[in-house]
Amino acid sequence: MSGARKLYVKSYGCQMNVYDSQRMTDVLAREGFTETAEQDEADLLILNTCHIREKAAEKVYSELGRIRRLKSQAAGEGRQVLVAVAGCVAQAEGEEIIRRAPVVDLVFGPQTYHRLPDLLARAERGGKVVDTDFPVEDKFDHLAPAQPAALRARGPSAFVTVQEGCDKFCTFCVVPYTRGAELSRPVAKIIAEVERLTEAGVREVRLIGQNVNAYHGDGPDGRPWSLAQLLFRLAEIPDLARLRYTTSHPCDMGEDLIAAHRDLPALMPQLHLPVQSGSDRILAAMNRRHTGDDYLAVIEKLRAVRPDIALTSDFIVGFPGETEADFRATLALIDEVGYAGAFSFKYSPRPGTPAAARNDQVAEADKVERLARLQQAIDRDAASFNAGLRGRTLDILFEKEGRRDGQLIGRSPYLQPVQVMAPTSLLNGIAPVRITDLGTNSLFGTLARSPHLHDDRPTIASAGP
Ligand code: SAH
Ligand code: SF4
Ligand code: F3S
Repeated sequence: MSGARKLYVKSYGCQMNVYDSQRMTDVLAREGFTETAEQDEADLLILNTCHIREKAAEKVYSELGRIRRLKSQAAGEGRQVLVAVAGCVAQAEGEEIIRRAPVVDLVFGPQTYHRLPDLLARAERGGKVVDTDFPVEDKFDHLAPAQPAALRARGPSAFVTVQEGCDKFCTFCVVPYTRGAELSRPVAKIIAEVERLTEAGVREVRLIGQNVNAYHGDGPDGRPWSLAQLLFRLAEIPDLARLRYTTSHPCDMGEDLIAAHRDLPALMPQLHLPVQSGSDRILAAMNRRHTGDDYLAVIEKLRAVRPDIALTSDFIVGFPGETEADFRATLALIDEVGYAGAFSFKYSPRPGTPAAARNDQVAEADKVERLARLQQAIDRDAASFNAGLRGRTLDILFEKEGRRDGQLIGRSPYLQPVQVMAPTSLLNGIAPVRITDLGTNSLFGTLARSPHLHDDRPTIASAGP
């Protein structure tokens, strides 16, 4: 094949997949692929999939049904279209995917993306390709860096994977099986990547990992560095205004990381710290390795150093054996914490995980009812957190243009989207905004002082509110 081939990538699931999709796009750019948002003009379609809940995995098969029609249409026009399934469904189901959806040409797991050009060449010669190895070499060492133009198009906030995989084995979760053992990238490689990003205009970096606060990558001094050490080092990079990290496990919230929330202005006052349940009995059955009180003790320490910190969590309702009393303990914990938001899910039995084999599964109707009650509690708390921001002036990082003319959308230090009437010269920069109104999913504000219209890199504001 020659000429500019087109690539369509769709990401499901977590931010690790978003990051991986960008890396795949970068690798394939070297092979002459340009990205498209239109499925029907693509020569290669990649679905980067998620296996975390049954619904997530099923979405992939319905999408593949639609793609099957596209592919046969293209074949009628004499055009070869390749269809690939990557990510966690690929890792978990392997060639079963091709049996179930013969439209698929390639199946490859999250640790093999650096082999993509080779896998693709094999698929182009005809025949199905499946690669779900956990190779000994590190995929990150072989992945192409993005071109500056591609980086700029992705905006001023970037994800950087610093840690992958998980050794925790919560009894409900597929991640240890789909992503493999926990692995931290070396500090020097992360610094180099973040420097490349900031040189291309990135102002905010979100360090990501399934268990990001368990980070322990090799430091330049030959010792393993903690996430806090890494954050302090990254904060020295010129023009990097904001740092965040996600997702954290309560057991790995070290003292130095908590202290960083006090001492590091670039570290935003926001933390996603999933607790899953407020019942000690359920937490033990989930193998979470902490109690509700342990979790609350961490929250107390965080609030002691950063009283305004916005806390969010994940919750699972209807874990096997969960009673009404267990569920009420979760509601009590929510009351105690006062979250700024949360993701909540009905327990979904996943093949191969210990909890799925239990014979005390909770009835669907109970899960539905508990989920609604939990979401009500979270919505109430989120609204009250946001109400506390009305009238305050916050530094907003402007990420994109809004739907209305003259409107920009940015994010507050607490991570809420904020809609502001502002000149496009402020895009990719930080400026103070007074919060005037609260919407359901975002805040509204006005510029707190007139911006320097001719300065394309506006206020490098201090990080705190
Ligand atoms: N590593 C993170 C999150 C991993 S998955 C952590 O340790 O918290 C993201 C969220 O999906 C989890 O926090 C959990 O709330 C949810 N989840 C995972 N497995 C699930 C399952 N089998 N059913 C329902 N929700 C699940
Ligand atoms: Fe899954 Fe638990 Fe690991 Fe999070 S800590 S990825 S929930 S096994
Ligand atoms: Fe889903 Fe895999 Fe992420 S299962 S949540 S895409 S690690």
